[in-house]
Amino acid sequence: MPPVCDECLGNEVLLNIEDLWKSYGEILGVAGLFMKVDSGSIHGLIGPNGAGKTTTVKCVVGLLKPDKGRITVIGRDVRSDEGFKRFIGYLPEAPSLPDYLTPKEFLGYIARIRGVEPGEETRRRVQEFLSMFELNDCENRFILELSKGLKQRLALATVFIHQPRLIIMDEPFIGLDPEGQRLVKNLVKDIVSDGGAALVCTHMLDMAERFCTSATIINRGRSVAEGSIEELKKTVGLESTGTLEEAFFRIVGGTEGGRL
Ligand SMILES: Nc1ncnc2c1ncn2[C@@H]1O[C@H](COP(=O)(O)OP(=O)(O)OP(=O)(O)O)[C@@H](O)[C@H]1O
Ligand SMILES: [Mg+2]
Repeated sequence: MPPVCDECLGNEVLLNIEDLWKSYGEILGVAGLFMKVDSGSIHGLIGPNGAGKTTTVKCVVGLLKPDKGRITVIGRDVRSDEGFKRFIGYLPEAPSLPDYLTPKEFLGYIARIRGVEPGEETRRRVQEFLSMFELNDCENRFILELSKGLKQRLALATVFIHQPRLIIMDEPFIGLDPEGQRLVKNLVKDIVSDGGAALVCTHMLDMAERFCTSATIINRGRSVAEGSIEELKKTVGLESTGTLEEAFFRIVGGTEGGRL
């Protein structure tokens, strides 16, 4: 279990996005998005293809510069404080891994740049995560030679190795076997129960309903509904026996016919 981080204490909102705008030339990626992720929550970011989920998380982790808006991570403005990165564990939509390194070398590298103590502590964590993600058999092979699922396991190991407080994952379960999915869910739950939080972009509504505690539904770059999973169902008049999928189609269907 990761230790509670002093800088997280007293911060109820671990991620706050206010009026985020990001265009790609003429194309609107995100258009005035507001979203909060509270300590102790697993928050889904759910929306049709092209809704703006990946653009949003890329702005949060600093890969894209917003046109407008304010993003804070654990109270730090991401524009002016690079230090926020060590608190984040990020899984991109399409992780790019260095072909010419081995899983062992790559995990050691990520641990180092994310502030894990060099030497024995880094070696211990690398071995722990190689073993946890069942990558021992390929730890000294080139990443180039790994199967798609093994690469996804390695990318996910890099999310957790530095004990982040805020997990941000863009479609984490694509290509991952059930055992890998359970491992990731348990790692997230441990962090969340210790005061951290997670933001999960996904199309898998069944999974989101069971795994997430709250969600933002995004369509055409805007938040169209947010709240706990139960609140989202109530918003559209569903009983608790209704599903998040039904709620999703009622909500997005009511905003100019979005797709999933
Ligand atoms: N690099 C880019 N250049 C131009 N337009 C882009 C670029 N990246 C995203 N877009 C556009 O921005 C909008 C939002 O895309 P984004 O990738 O954020 O959606 P998404 O919700 O993650 O979709 P998906 O579910 O398909 O992953 C879309 O219209 C998309 O075509
Ligand atoms: Mg995406």
